[in-house]
Amino acid sequence: MFVLVLAACGSDEEAAGTDGDTGADSDATETEDTGSDTEEGDSKEASEKLVIGFSQVGAESEWRTANTTSMQDAITDAGHELKFSDAQQKQENQIKAIRSFIAQKVDAIVFSPVVETGFETVLQEAKDAKIPVFLSDRAVDIEDDSLWVTFLGSDFIEEGKKAGNWLVEEMEGEGEVNIVELQGTVGSAPAIDRKEGFEQIISEYPNFEITKSQTGDFTRAKGKEVMEAFLKSDGDNIDVLYAHNDDMAIGAIQAIEEYGLKPAEDIVIIGVDAVKGAFEAMAAGKMNVTIECNPLFGPQMVEIIEQYLAGEEVPKRIAVEESMYTMDQAEELLPTRQY
Ligand code: AHR
Repeated sequence: MFVLVLAACGSDEEAAGTDGDTGADSDATETEDTGSDTEEGDSKEASEKLVIGFSQVGAESEWRTANTTSMQDAITDAGHELKFSDAQQKQENQIKAIRSFIAQKVDAIVFSPVVETGFETVLQEAKDAKIPVFLSDRAVDIEDDSLWVTFLGSDFIEEGKKAGNWLVEEMEGEGEVNIVELQGTVGSAPAIDRKEGFEQIISEYPNFEITKSQTGDFTRAKGKEVMEAFLKSDGDNIDVLYAHNDDMAIGAIQAIEEYGLKPAEDIVIIGVDAVKGAFEAMAAGKMNVTIECNPLFGPQMVEIIEQYLAGEEVPKRIAVEESMYTMDQAEELLPTRQY
């Protein structure tokens, strides 16, 4: 049987997982079963301690922090060793981190790609080293899907559609509806897909129009800055803000108040993630709706890795089930929110 030799933590890229219980029960449904299993002779016993490298996008949002904690806790609580790297939203940092995991001969790599493209070479290197890669949260746009085992995360197109459907139901029959859009990180799967899903819905309604659209990089600071610019150039003509995440929506709410308008009344505010900050904003009457994007799937990812390394088949895509929350539900649900 394969015996793991565990290296002591020490490099800059390594960080011990936190001890706290996230209560992170993820709720997932299998969407596609193309199957995938380990190469013969590589399988490990379920109880075996694994070394898992986790290359995370960054710390750009409340959502991301919750996802990092969920994954770190799940890995260490299961008795495995974690090697963690925060890419600070830079692709080159992720490529370096994955190379470092390969050099350290980890048993598995969990990878949440900053952007969709440009990872072929490094993923091929992982494959050549026989280290399986598990995509977490964000997918890659790569032709050769043998370079990764499975994708576990949200259906971002569906999230965009939910936002569009909510808006159309809410404002159909109100004449011209001018929408400004705060996009996520350029080239990232959630930015591309949330835009696409939303546009698929509103394109059916000629009175709904996206009049301005710019990236706010998924951060509050950038969301505020870009919203200030939108207001400056077109302040009296904005009916709706569609922000690809709650952090940007929260930053934009500040900008709207400073400009002298009432968020959720003068401008309808739609966010994505359903983080606590959005529930607080909704409870305060400043945000209308948030589309859930559940980050608490660390335990499920660990289970999938263990199954795969034990030689079991795993589905190629696993989607996390999600909901949507409106302003009138916020006060009651706020105390129950885990992230
Ligand atoms: O990939 C998930 C997205 O990334 C979240 O919606 C956003 O908040 C984060 O930064």
